[in-house]
Amino acid sequence: MYLSRFLSIHALWVTVSSVMQPYPLVWGHYDLCKTQIYTEEGKVWDYMACQPESTDMTKYLKVKLDPPDITCGDPPETFCAMGNPYMCNNECDASTPELAHPPELMFDFEGRHPSTFWQSATWKEYPKPLQVNITLSWSKTIELTDNIVITFESGRPDQMILEKSLDYGRTWQPYQYYATDCLDAFHMDPKSVKDLSQHTVLEIICTEEYSTGYTTNSKIIHFEIKDRFAFFAGPRLRNMASLYGQLDTTKKLRDFFTVTDLRIRLLRPAVGEIFVDELHLARYFYAISDIKVRGRCKCNLHATVCVYDNSKLTCECEHNTTGPDCGKCKKNYQGRPWSPGSYLPIPKGTANTCIPSISSIGNPSKFNRIWPNISSLEVSNPKQANVCDNELLHCQNGGTCHNNVRCLCPAAYTGILCEKLRCEEAGSCGSDSGQGAPPHGSPALLLLTTLLGIASPLVF
Ligand SMILES: *[C@@H]1O[C@H](CO)[C@@H](O)[C@H](O)[C@H]1NC(C)=O
Ligand SMILES: *[C@@H]1O[C@H](CO)[C@@H](O)[C@H](O)[C@H]1NC(C)=O
Ligand SMILES: *[C@@H]1O[C@H](CO)[C@@H](O)[C@H](O)[C@H]1NC(C)=O
Repeated sequence: MYLSRFLSIHALWVTVSSVMQPYPLVWGHYDLCKTQIYTEEGKVWDYMACQPESTDMTKYLKVKLDPPDITCGDPPETFCAMGNPYMCNNECDASTPELAHPPELMFDFEGRHPSTFWQSATWKEYPKPLQVNITLSWSKTIELTDNIVITFESGRPDQMILEKSLDYGRTWQPYQYYATDCLDAFHMDPKSVKDLSQHTVLEIICTEEYSTGYTTNSKIIHFEIKDRFAFFAGPRLRNMASLYGQLDTTKKLRDFFTVTDLRIRLLRPAVGEIFVDELHLARYFYAISDIKVRGRCKCNLHATVCVYDNSKLTCECEHNTTGPDCGKCKKNYQGRPWSPGSYLPIPKGTANTCIPSISSIGNPSKFNRIWPNISSLEVSNPKQANVCDNELLHCQNGGTCHNNVRCLCPAAYTGILCEKLRCEEAGSCGSDSGQGAPPHGSPALLLLTTLLGIASPLVF
């Protein structure tokens, strides 16, 4: 099940069959850019939307600290033990490997004991704020596919902002605020992701959910990507078709999960009490043992391979596109404007290949042979039109799969897989119609939901 075939040639990472947690198989629909099929015209290439596998993106980033000399140990200093403020003879010394806590230790292999971590200097200059920016840069647009998880080795900071950039660090936007007291720290009402909805999913919130405490998991902070996906794909992300439909049609939503850089702004260390203990300032510092960022190169659905070479990520573009994100057509392939591939129709999407420039062909009939009409191919190749009844996707709520291409839904349901209550979409569910069991008993009024029907864009 979890065999993902990695062709690792030197610094190249590649996916062929993509089977990765936490989206087993489902994301894997888009793991091939083209395939050979047979039609009346003989063997031809059929092109499909495709994307690289989701992977651990911390292997490909550069980290920068501000202020640059904020790491502890130069000069050596002592600090108080985690959770024991009266044992203050621990040492940080940058020149002794066993006592050093350099930034790389935020990303090394965890699970060992004792764990390794980055640590800042202590709050010697109190009341001047102890603030640190940790900037993670990919020099490439990437799409986040799982929660960002930061594990603090000390207490979690009292105040922190996670920021993102989409333009290689030129401009920054907040992603989420974290505080023990949101109102006091940021003049924001505390919220949790669970308070959001499909329509407010892009709202930037301040959360107190991860405030300081010494309970289980109290060292961890999340930025909740999966909870946000779930507003579209359902609780266990079972209906990715619906999420894909929204990502396809709503640029703002797609951009929300896309970054080139992340910045963790540590604004106030864990104090844990109302007052800072000025006699023991060596109690206060930041320490991070692990940062998890999973995602994939953004290749606009024109590549399954993303190469890491010379410390740089680049999509290996197909469909005669080019550029670091496959964001334009190759020379001599500008017969129509570039456009990104599309996730729809599920499961193979639409490649939107770049086609030869008119001047470079000369003969239009030859043009047709080189570039077969994809929609006519779909009809002549029943295998790939299998949309609503395959190992991954099934019509839900009593819908039946018609000709393998669309679900016929009971009257009360809609959506590509009949996954949505019709009244929910119309915002008219009464108190007794929204919850109960689906009305399987009334199949007389079957409604055709077309494949593209789910793509009604949200208005943000
Ligand atoms: C951290 O970055 C922000 C901008 O994102 C900047 O305003 C602030 O001064 C920086 N703080 C430090 C300590 O460098
Ligand atoms: C792109 O163009 C080359 C010729 O330069 C052709 O062989 C190839 O099949 C084309 N691929 C796609 C996906 O359009
Ligand atoms: C492709 O084929 C479909 C169905 O055969 C037809 O409706 C459509 O007009 C064709 N498109 C082009 C660009 O030839």
